[in-house]
Amino acid sequence: MPRILIAGASGGIGSASARAFARKGYEVFAGCHTPIAVQKIEEIGNPKIVPVTLDVETPDPERIPDNLSIVLNCAGLAPLPDLEALETAHQNPTWWFQHLATTAMGAVFLANAAREKMLWGSLYVSLTSDLALTNQSRHEGLHGGLYAYRAGRAALNACLLALGHDLHPYGINVIALSPGWVRTRMGGPFAPIHADDAGVRICQTLMNHLAFTPEECTTLIDINGDPLDW
Ligand SMILES: NC(=O)c1ccc[n+]([C@@H]2O[C@H](COP(=O)([O-])OP(=O)(O)OC[C@H]3O[C@@H](n4cnc5c(N)ncnc54)[C@H](OP(=O)(O)O)[C@@H]3O)[C@@H](O)[C@H]2O)c1
Repeated sequence: MPRILIAGASGGIGSASARAFARKGYEVFAGCHTPIAVQKIEEIGNPKIVPVTLDVETPDPERIPDNLSIVLNCAGLAPLPDLEALETAHQNPTWWFQHLATTAMGAVFLANAAREKMLWGSLYVSLTSDLALTNQSRHEGLHGGLYAYRAGRAALNACLLALGHDLHPYGINVIALSPGWVRTRMGGPFAPIHADDAGVRICQTLMNHLAFTPEECTTLIDINGDPLDW
């Protein structure tokens, strides 16, 4: 049975992806950074979804299962618009540091902790956001603000490019996946993509990518697997 580790699996896209991969026959290790979330998954009692304690900022390699085909990092912090407007962004530097810690540092620390548990030909995937892309055509209709969130995602993208090179010798392909606007606690109630739909599409896209030989060290794709321009 193929194995996947999902970080940030206590809710939203991570939780929906866990269910989708379990339905496809994967053994899913659902990483949660709080004991309450671990307990909730235990109570659901899906034998294919095993909760593991996993904080991406301080991942413990001992707790990461081996023989992983995919590591999917869905951990992230929602933007707080009140702290991220031009006029107020300077008022809480801690918030900026927290975004960098959870988003960019977390992705690098998790990759380092997991790399020896990942199979040759496996995928290291981190969710990113269109809001951090510099390709202007993707930004049509988008707004200003969300500085800390965007800075964290831009730093994440830079780190994923470096990770693609560093994980290549281990036979690990790195993917940055921008899911679009998804209806979760973070995405809010007006997002057009339902979380369960996002989970199904991410699952299908990543299963398709397992069969690929990458031409680049890091690939940036959307939720359907179509390539995006950084
Ligand atoms: N929703 C969207 O429209 C959208 C769009 C573009 C990109 N994304 C990205 O997709 C990812 C998932 O977002 P989502 O919408 O599913 O948001 P969400 O429902 O808020 O989920 C975020 C998850 O990250 C977990 N988390 C936070 N800090 C963590 C840490 N230090 N270690 C491990 N897990 C941690 C949260 O756990 P707790 O709840 O227990 O704190 C939660 O399970 C995020 O990276 C987000 O930026 C989302």
